[in-house]
Formats: sequence, C-alpha cells, structure tokens
Amino acid sequence: MNKILVTGGAGYIGSHTLIELANAKYDFVVLDNFSNSSKIALERVSQIIGKEIDFIINNIIFQIVVREEEK
Ligand SMILES: NC(=O)c1ccc[n+]([C@@H]2O[C@H](COP(=O)([O-])OP(=O)(O)OC[C@H]3O[C@@H](n4cnc5c(N)ncnc54)[C@H](O)[C@@H]3O)[C@@H](O)[C@H]2O)c1
Repeated sequence: MNKILVTGGAGYIGSHTLIELANAKYDFVVLDNFSNSSKIALERVSQIIGKEIDFIINNIIFQIVVREEEK
C-alpha cells in the first residue's frame, strides 16, 4: 500500500491527523522541520498508536524526493 505523506505531522493538526490515519489503517510518513514542534510529539503519537513512526526532518519548501525502495 502507498504511504500518505503528512507535512507538519508533528504539529497540532498533524499529530491528530496521524492518530486518525492510524485508526483507519493507513500507512504514513511524516515530514516536519520541527520549527514549531519536536520529536516528543511524534513519540507521544507513537505510544498512542502502538507503532514506530517514519519521519523525515526537512523543510517543505525544499525539493526532496521521497521514494520507497522496491521490495
Ligand atoms: N489546544 C488547542 O486547542 C490548540 C493547540 C495548538 C494549536 N491550536 C490551533 O491549531 C492551529 C495550528 O495548528 P497547526 O497544526 O496548523 O500548526 P502547528 O504549528 O501546531 O503545526 C505545524 C507543523 O508544521 C511544521 N512546520 C512549519 N513549517 C514547516 C516547514 N517549512 N517545513 C516542514 N515543517 C514545517 C511545524 O514544525 C509544526 O510541527 C492554530 O489555529 C492554533 O490556534 C490549538
């Protein structure tokens, strides 16, 4: 299944979005530069949903390539 990219996922709206996505069985990866949040928020969400969270520390204004390796 493809992953959903959640920008700002460590923030207020983003972290609540992660919980809803997890409850709905979606897989996701977070992109956040932690300018207004911290890794602690993701650790709390991880505890709530009971699984590790994949995240990328980056600024959304920079062009990046997110690619899942083919298995
Ligand atoms: N308890 C509450 O009711 C409560 C608490 C906090 C906020 N709020 C409200 O929620 C709204 C804000 O929530 P939000 O989730 O939109 O904001 P937020 O600041 O909580 O989350 C934004 C996230 O995006 C990240 N970010 C910012 N710029 C970035 C960039 N260039 N690249 C990558 N990541 C970047 C930040 O680090 C942060 O994690 C406001 O309306 C605020 O009043 C309510």
